[in-house]
Amino acid sequence: MDPASGPGGWTKTSRAPAPARLRYPDPMTSSATPDALAQAQAAYAELKARGLKLNLQRGQPADADFDLSNPMLSVLGENDTRYDGTDLRNYPGGVAGLPSARALFGNYLDLKPENVLVWNNSSLELQGLVLGFALLHGLRGSQGGWVHEKPKMIVTVPGYDRHFLLLETLGFKLLAVDMQDDGPDVDAIERLAANDASVKGILFVPTYSNPGGETISAEKARRLVGLKAAAPDFTIFADDAYRAHHLFGEGERDVPVNFVALCRDAGHPDRAFVFASTSKITFAGAGLGFVGSSEDNIGWLGKYLGAQSIGPNKFEQARHVKFLEGYDGGLEGLMRDHAALIAPKFQAVYDALSAGLGEGGGGYATWRTPRGGYFISLDTVDPVAERVVQLADEAGISLTPAGATYPGGNDPKNANIRLAPTRPPLAEVEEAMRGVATCVKLAAEEYRAGQH
Ligand SMILES: Cc1ncc(COP(=O)(O)O)c(C=O)c1O
Repeated sequence: MDPASGPGGWTKTSRAPAPARLRYPDPMTSSATPDALAQAQAAYAELKARGLKLNLQRGQPADADFDLSNPMLSVLGENDTRYDGTDLRNYPGGVAGLPSARALFGNYLDLKPENVLVWNNSSLELQGLVLGFALLHGLRGSQGGWVHEKPKMIVTVPGYDRHFLLLETLGFKLLAVDMQDDGPDVDAIERLAANDASVKGILFVPTYSNPGGETISAEKARRLVGLKAAAPDFTIFADDAYRAHHLFGEGERDVPVNFVALCRDAGHPDRAFVFASTSKITFAGAGLGFVGSSEDNIGWLGKYLGAQSIGPNKFEQARHVKFLEGYDGGLEGLMRDHAALIAPKFQAVYDALSAGLGEGGGGYATWRTPRGGYFISLDTVDPVAERVVQLADEAGISLTPAGATYPGGNDPKNANIRLAPTRPPLAEVEEAMRGVATCVKLAAEEYRAGQH
């Protein structure tokens, strides 16, 4: 494949500039003209009259993505009751998962099977379980359960709302640092962790982050694993949900980091837990979640999981292994087929924004053009994200609520909007994004005219 073209034969446009520091035009000195506002209002009235009903808010695979994995439903026959020498129907088998599932997902995480525990269908659940056990019992190096220390956790912004919800529900105080083009703001992390032993770690997405698609650089990863923290049990919780979700061919991909190996080499062997799942590989609601860490940490987790479960669903693990190993090109082949479906939708977002707002956003907005993942992060130039989402909603286009990418739903710049183009069919992405561009323009012109 021509490295300049993405899967599915589509051609990449030049990258829009990464979101720069946002400008806040003073409405009184703005260059807004009554004409520009009137034109934007007319375009919006036309949009509204179309009576659309479109949804760009769900970070879910499309039915066409799911269909790629439908053969998994019949890959085991009624006589396939044994796998890895284990009776899949019965209890015995161990809490860490089927050996072949640990090997497969170990390979996925670039780890040995002993460093991996394969659980049931949600990596978020595994994150909650690990954090919950840390709160109750502490991790290696802890004095006791973190719950006694009023624990704090660093998160990146803009970021994933379910991370914020999970951590807040468990009682962590959140400390937000910026997600930059090459990963989290490590200077800020070093400052936060240096003198406060209640800062227990960081939870973030290291590869093709949600929502910006940023990937941590090797340099920043090295700084994180070697970080001098006041807490002896400072831990890197890496939610590597999009590790293999490349949109382009080889040579045009971001390189995922192996935090477990890096931590070991840096003399902090137990410092990292890496989570992932097949939710965006096979079935979002019926995949497999897994976690990689040091052997000691996997043993620690297995001890507590084993107290509440005799083991995970072995049939699900066996059929994932059989299906993924038998897929043309294996798991990577399946990811290439997903990319062929998803990459044109990303392109449709960029095309609609450029056509509606002008190349590079025309002074109305900027957006990121990641090389993988599931989302596109849009930043309005004016503080109008809430108004854009409201206008879109009233025109029948459902967007992720403004503010969702910040803890407490509070985006201090009122600028960030997460776009999720994977679920709707391509034609709907195109139509919805033309509408979003219309809403961005109107919200900005209203603001510049001093209307809000
Ligand atoms: C960063 C990130 N982590 C985790 C999840 C959910 O993963 P799972 O289905 O394995 O719980 C998502 C889903 O959107 C996500 O974006």
